[in-house]
Amino acid sequence: MKPHSKVTAPDSTALQPVSEGSTRHSGFYQVRHLRFGWSALLIFLLLGIVLEALHGFKIQAYLNVSSTTRRLMWTLAHAHGTLLALINLAFAAAIPLVPAWPSRLRDLASMCLMGGSVLLPTGFFLGGAIIHGGDPGLGVLIVPVGALLLLTSVFLTAQATLVAPKPTDATPTKKNAVTKHAST
Ligand code: HEM
Repeated sequence: MKPHSKVTAPDSTALQPVSEGSTRHSGFYQVRHLRFGWSALLIFLLLGIVLEALHGFKIQAYLNVSSTTRRLMWTLAHAHGTLLALINLAFAAAIPLVPAWPSRLRDLASMCLMGGSVLLPTGFFLGGAIIHGGDPGLGVLIVPVGALLLLTSVFLTAQATLVAPKPTDATPTKKNAVTKHAST
């Protein structure tokens, strides 16, 4: 096998237990949010293509003036779904940068992010599926629940990044390079 085709663990620190009492490795959350993020992006881009098709085929149940609420709700479902999918990918990327994040809080942030990412766009979609004149259907009531979950997750993540110790500057300066050389 050629040397460059060797398969190595992407980041050995991602596979280490990160805090006392931790039962799940940070790699677990990375993989979970990568899978969730890419799958959600696929679903909500498909919804974008469906909306495009509704325009293309001039579907009146979507484009009529009396269906303005449905159009708004479904556009919001598509827009929030795609953007939240990207936030899940950002969450996956951030996990290894916050190794001291207490596992209980990290787990809560992860669950809230996924819950919010499901409830928010689903609520918009259901709100547009059945409309009552200018009002969205009752499904829209799960939107604020999703918003609260998202807010919790973003608060926990922001807090974890703010209290995370700054990485030490690993760039070798002339001085420490010499010291290192001398000590070997
Ligand atoms: C990461 C990718 C995407 C993001 C973040 C995104 C975001 C958005 C946002 C914010 C809007 C609302 C614009 C407004 O009303 O002012 C929108 C509308 C729309 N998007 Fe996307 N979009 C994405 C990909 C796509 C794709 C791939 C398609 C389909 C080919 C698509 C089709 C549509 C359509 C048809 C609307 C207008 C719906 C309407 O007003 O009836 N989008 N998108």
